[in-house]
Amino acid sequence: MAEFLLEAKNVSVTFGSGSTKVEAVKNCSLTLRSGEPIGIVGESGSGKSTLARVLAGLQAPTEGEIFFNGEPVYKGSKSYTGEARRQVQMVFQDPYGSLNPQLTGLNAVAEAVRIHDKTNKDESENRALELLRRMGIAELDAIKKPRQLSGGQRQRVSVARALSANPTVLLADEPTSAIDQSAQAQLLNLFRGLLDDGLSIVLVSHDLGVIRYLTQRVYVMKDGVFVESGITEEIFNDPLEDYTKLLLASIPGDLGVAARRKLNKN
Ligand SMILES: Nc1ncnc2c1ncn2[C@@H]1O[C@H](COP(=O)(O)OP(=O)(O)OP(=O)(O)O)[C@@H](O)[C@H]1O
Ligand SMILES: [Mg+2]
Repeated sequence: MAEFLLEAKNVSVTFGSGSTKVEAVKNCSLTLRSGEPIGIVGESGSGKSTLARVLAGLQAPTEGEIFFNGEPVYKGSKSYTGEARRQVQMVFQDPYGSLNPQLTGLNAVAEAVRIHDKTNKDESENRALELLRRMGIAELDAIKKPRQLSGGQRQRVSVARALSANPTVLLADEPTSAIDQSAQAQLLNLFRGLLDDGLSIVLVSHDLGVIRYLTQRVYVMKDGVFVESGITEEIFNDPLEDYTKLLLASIPGDLGVAARRKLNKN
């Protein structure tokens, strides 16, 4: 087995050209070990979702490579072939865009269960209901279409859909952004449980509280670059880069205290 389950090596992503050129990700390298929860944090537009899509096999990098279990993920026009396809799942930042508007949550999750487990309709629906229940979606809401659900419910249906593949790696792009505090806590606890069961998680978030609660290591991203990375607790207690200090100092209450103190000292 390779040392890292997932690895990005010197990844860059450029959109457009000439005057419309955007370098969304610049020379980023990242590692994820089996069973590890890591975070990618940074302000809006810093390149987090772009990098997450590259890690998920959905967008080939302009430069650099992604490895899953030591194997290159992008091979010609394909990515994550064979068993690896099931093993890496992504929860999208915008569940509205990623869920089929014609399918109820139950049907969307059951369809995903069938793709991966090859079970019949009844079995897949039972498994889908169980997954949705774990995400706090009752049967009454499970039979609604995406537009009939609240933002948080849509997000939780998306997580249930990703989990239906029984993945090894979950890439979660702002999974808690449209959820209120109590549903957030419920989702984070579920993620904790999944980590205990051996799942590896890449959590993309601009919510530093969520990052601190769930991750062991974190990459701080600004303008497409990782400006700082390391053990989450150490970065929260002793941020080195000014950008990280500012990001942390903006959190109200106890979480931002160490960073505010450091900023004031300088
Ligand atoms: N398909 C695209 N075409 C052109 N530019 C893009 C495309 N996707 C993203 N970008 C640009 O790349 C940069 C990074 O975007 P990205 O969505 O990765 O940021 P983000 O860190 O996820 O932000 P947020 O916190 O708001 O979700 C932005 O400047 C964005 O406008
Ligand atoms: Mg994003």
